[in-house]
Amino acid sequence: MTDMIEDEDETGARKRALSNRQVLGFVARFWKRRPVLFGLGVGLTLVAVAFDLALPYAAGHLVDTVATQPRGDAQAWSALAIFVGVYFAFAVVRNIAHRFWIPLAARNMEEMTNESFAKVQAFSSDWHADSFAGATVRKLTRAMWGYDSVTDAVTIWLGPGVIVLIGLSIAMLVRQPLAGIISLVVVAAYLTVNLVITERYVRPSNLKSNALDSKIGGALADAVTSNPTVKSFGAETREAERLAKVTAQWREAVMVTWNRFTDVWLGQNLLLVVLQAGLTGAMVWGWTQGTATPGDVAFAITAFMLMSGYLRNLGENIRMLQKGLDDTEDVAAWTRLAPQIADDPNAPEFQPGSGAIEFQDVTFRYKAAGAPLYDRFSLKIAPGERVALVGPTGSGKSTFVKLIQRLHDLQDGAVVIDGQDVSTVKQASLRRAIAVVPQDPALFHRTLFENIAYGKPDATREEVEDAAIKARAHEFILRLPKGYDTLVGERGVKLSGGERQRVAIARAFLADAPILVLDEATSSLDVETEGHVQEAAEALMEGRTTIVIAHRLSTVRGADRILVFQGGRVVEEGRHAELTAKGGVYARLNAISAGVV
Ligand SMILES: Nc1ncnc2c1ncn2[C@@H]1O[C@H](COP(=O)(O)OP(=O)(O)OP(=O)(O)O)[C@@H](O)[C@H]1O
Ligand SMILES: [Mg+2]
Repeated sequence: MTDMIEDEDETGARKRALSNRQVLGFVARFWKRRPVLFGLGVGLTLVAVAFDLALPYAAGHLVDTVATQPRGDAQAWSALAIFVGVYFAFAVVRNIAHRFWIPLAARNMEEMTNESFAKVQAFSSDWHADSFAGATVRKLTRAMWGYDSVTDAVTIWLGPGVIVLIGLSIAMLVRQPLAGIISLVVVAAYLTVNLVITERYVRPSNLKSNALDSKIGGALADAVTSNPTVKSFGAETREAERLAKVTAQWREAVMVTWNRFTDVWLGQNLLLVVLQAGLTGAMVWGWTQGTATPGDVAFAITAFMLMSGYLRNLGENIRMLQKGLDDTEDVAAWTRLAPQIADDPNAPEFQPGSGAIEFQDVTFRYKAAGAPLYDRFSLKIAPGERVALVGPTGSGKSTFVKLIQRLHDLQDGAVVIDGQDVSTVKQASLRRAIAVVPQDPALFHRTLFENIAYGKPDATREEVEDAAIKARAHEFILRLPKGYDTLVGERGVKLSGGERQRVAIARAFLADAPILVLDEATSSLDVETEGHVQEAAEALMEGRTTIVIAHRLSTVRGADRILVFQGGRVVEEGRHAELTAKGGVYARLNAISAGVV
């Protein structure tokens, strides 16, 4: 039905948008969470609607009184008081109703944002690798305001509007059947035309504009976060052109959407003219026939004014409803998307033990890759063992670590830690038991203190400083103008690569997990600093199972066992001395790194 543009940034590329009804269901689930607020809002709105419906009666009564009673009659004043009083009551009650709509909307928008964020956090690393951060952010904030539009449109405008329109048509039917029929026909035509055309004609182009709007967000965030690369290649113009292509696509799409909205608007106004002519015409005709009083004509005019106000609002709000539904669509679709790597609801917490790791016939293939990286791979790491993974780039060393952390699920086999299959325990508890210093640590744009304490949220100042001292980070931190309170920039851009690594190492010291992984953790350090950090790391490794990944073989000599990876397989294993004596792959790598060859 909807020709959405290719949604490049989501796993399993969504081909079909959710239907309006499905998105509305998603929004309505939030209303149900606060039945009291919602009920009071609806109840008071209905009372206000009743006053609104009374207005034409009050107007008709006033005109008939003025037309039929002698001048100076006090009845005219009481008729006027009713006319004014009805409108005043309408205004007051409607305003009170809003006081209930306000907290309902604000709290639900708050919850929707928090829950969507939780959802996004639960999505797998594959999903995140496939999504543009900028587009995700855009979808989330758009949905928050989409909820607001949908709720306002339905509860404040459309619901009351439909009641008033049908109510007035029936009232008209009683007073002057012809006018009643005209008004019922026009109202029905108006509603059908609006709902059908909006869904069939406007919605597809609106979803397309939204997808392009997300794409702008994604493209912007991609280029802005990689700004150092852009600068270093002097590629600003190229990037500007790249973005201009996306914004141009968006412009074309949004013009179609807005034009379609405007077409609908034109149709609505033409129908209003028909209504105006029909209603008042029928009453004036009735007057010529002697079946309608001046009060009836006033009734019809007032009713038309009211109805046209509501109908215009209705048109406006059907558009707003459609836009709100479309803006919420992405997030509503997320809620139907189960986390790709899910915890079983009854999954137990991981029970950290001595740190025995076992790969049992593991077959693993990256979603995007053609062939499996690991094919029936088996390996045992004993508790407390220090294992070094070496081997050419792309041979699967970092992936080994990701599988231990269960960042990806296997096609076959199992990864077992301390007797527990990692796919059966709660992911967060598993990952807390594994401290990883990644290849390219990304820091939060928070203070150094917070960044280090990330490994242990309740850490004291002393503990953080102690970890920093061990990681050889303390000195450079103290040299910064604000010391531990320095903000490090997005992803830590205000620190050097070596400084970032040492912060990440300090984090691992604090985390105090039974399994420690150092993935090229010291690759950005100078030889002297590396030596110091190495000493500290030795202390850290004490009593823990440690996996060290390194290209610089000097750092892995002390390992209990060296595993040489090649294309997802271990081609050699043993201690440094054994492997060098063997004269295989490791011996060759070692000779190169020692500068012998
Ligand atoms: N998310 C991913 N999706 C698809 N393929 C991936 C993904 N991550 C890694 N790969 C591929 O898997 C292979 C192994 O990658 P891995 O990061 O494990 O290598 P590595 O041994 O750590 O290399 P290096 O020494 O360069 O860090 C590579 O060919 C890589 O391109
Ligand atoms: Mg790697």
